[in-house]
Amino acid sequence: MSPTTPMYRVGPGHFETDEARLQKALERYHEGKGLIGGDPRRRPRWLHPLPPEPARAFRLHQSSPEHLQRLQTFLHHRPLEIEIGSGRGDFILDWAARHPRRHFLAFEVKYKLMRRIVLKAEKQGLGNLWATDDDARYDLPRLLPPASVSVFHILFPDPWWKPKHQARRLFVPPFVDVLGLLLEPGGILRVATDVPGYGDYIVELVEGHPDFLPHDPALAERFADAAPTSRQAFCDEIGRPYTYYFFAKRSS
Ligand SMILES: C[S@@+](CC[C@H](N)C(=O)[O-])C[C@H]1O[C@@H](n2cnc3c(N)ncnc32)[C@H](O)[C@@H]1O
Repeated sequence: MSPTTPMYRVGPGHFETDEARLQKALERYHEGKGLIGGDPRRRPRWLHPLPPEPARAFRLHQSSPEHLQRLQTFLHHRPLEIEIGSGRGDFILDWAARHPRRHFLAFEVKYKLMRRIVLKAEKQGLGNLWATDDDARYDLPRLLPPASVSVFHILFPDPWWKPKHQARRLFVPPFVDVLGLLLEPGGILRVATDVPGYGDYIVELVEGHPDFLPHDPALAERFADAAPTSRQAFCDEIGRPYTYYFFAKRSS
């Protein structure tokens, strides 16, 4: 194992969903059930202070109105790509540097990782990347209008194995609705996972959604020069297989 590659847990061999329990939890989805860190409106301000404004980090309920206005101006730019669950930022920092004319937003709920991304972006002089440690499921429907995103990158999302944690998964019907709404026609949902059962579940969910076309492996070409994420590098080192999926948003 290379000294720079973090160790990750690989989890159990099988992936299951307790549908009855998940459905029950999803009845309270719009009240914030499953949000990581709880309701962001009740988050204490003194905990984990953000890098001082105007650094390109924000929280929907803590940043100043001026800063949120700066963010809105940034988000008006097209094309706009969003990564959800950026981890150490290995992919998004490299991708933003390769595509200076695009704008990027990184969601990473772990404060230290989000901060790392913001500081590294600053050091690299990247003016086209903002980040937040808000839960993406809370912010996205409140932050962006329909058809405003050209690519969503969701790479190696947490499977949340335990039945009581299923509601924290990104791939649940109400969030796939949000992804479909926010993608522009022809926009791409790019997903990777090393948990085969979760991969099957994602394919079933997204392909069964009226906004999306079936997984199209040919779309991989557009991302051929993307840097691996840190979880991907770990899988490569231990020889653990993973799969990338590409779902385009239907044009009508
Ligand atoms: C398994 S890690 C993968 C990280 C990175 N994409 C990689 O492949 O190395 C999943 C990451 O998603 C973050 N995450 C999970 N749910 C999230 C959410 N709702 N909003 C933002 N980040 C989230 C976690 O904190 C974690 O760092």
